[in-house]
Amino acid sequence: MTRIVSHRGANTFAPENTFAAADLALGQGADYIELDVRESADGVLYVLHDETLDRTTNGAGPIGHMLSDEIDMLDAGSWFDASFSGAVVPRLDAYLEHLRGRAGVYLELKYCDPAKVVALIRDLGMVRDTFYFSFCEEMRRDLQVIAPEFRKMMTLDMAKSPSLVGAVHHASIIEVTVEQMRRPGIVATCRKAGLEIMVYYGGSDIAIHREVAAAGVDYINLDRPDLFDAARRDQ
Ligand code: G3P
Ligand code: CA
Repeated sequence: MTRIVSHRGANTFAPENTFAAADLALGQGADYIELDVRESADGVLYVLHDETLDRTTNGAGPIGHMLSDEIDMLDAGSWFDASFSGAVVPRLDAYLEHLRGRAGVYLELKYCDPAKVVALIRDLGMVRDTFYFSFCEEMRRDLQVIAPEFRKMMTLDMAKSPSLVGAVHHASIIEVTVEQMRRPGIVATCRKAGLEIMVYYGGSDIAIHREVAAAGVDYINLDRPDLFDAARRDQ
């Protein structure tokens, strides 16, 4: 059965990348939580999507310019709804400990020291429950050198061809769009290249959720775990 990767948690119903969003996603059937990693000025790893704190907290400016004791005081919930006031910007270590044994985790390294992430994952014993991606080539290269055994994802758009995902990018999971998944032969080509397939879909069209569930791919990275969980049960 296709596993659900909940993009920033259940971000439609709770503030993205918070404990509440992760818990809600798990309640809606998610198997994995996707999260974004950034680092504070004093080197603490946090779960935050944007480079700045402006959109999703009551703080302002780049997270990389702020100290952890200031970040820990911020409210990451009120911007979404008053009922979430008091939600924190999660520290990565606390967020992973919260998820350990309950879900897999897809870590997208936005901007951080990959060595710190690797050390944390090894300490927590979560190597097999996690996989990784970064849009930053330097971080992908560092991660491969430091942790060749970690599972990595690469997008078809960036790799250009499924055969390059493993050979050039050292990844075992390929992410494709719904349109790419529909191309004749693409699923079989990815399988032949020994890859697991993850479809990325950010919408809420029930027909598309059903179509992806029927395609039998390994993962879907999405915003609506609730809709996909219902679609895959119908298969
Ligand atoms: O797999 C890529 C996807 O998770 C990217 O997420 O929203 O940080 O661009 P985003
Ligand atoms: Ca992301």
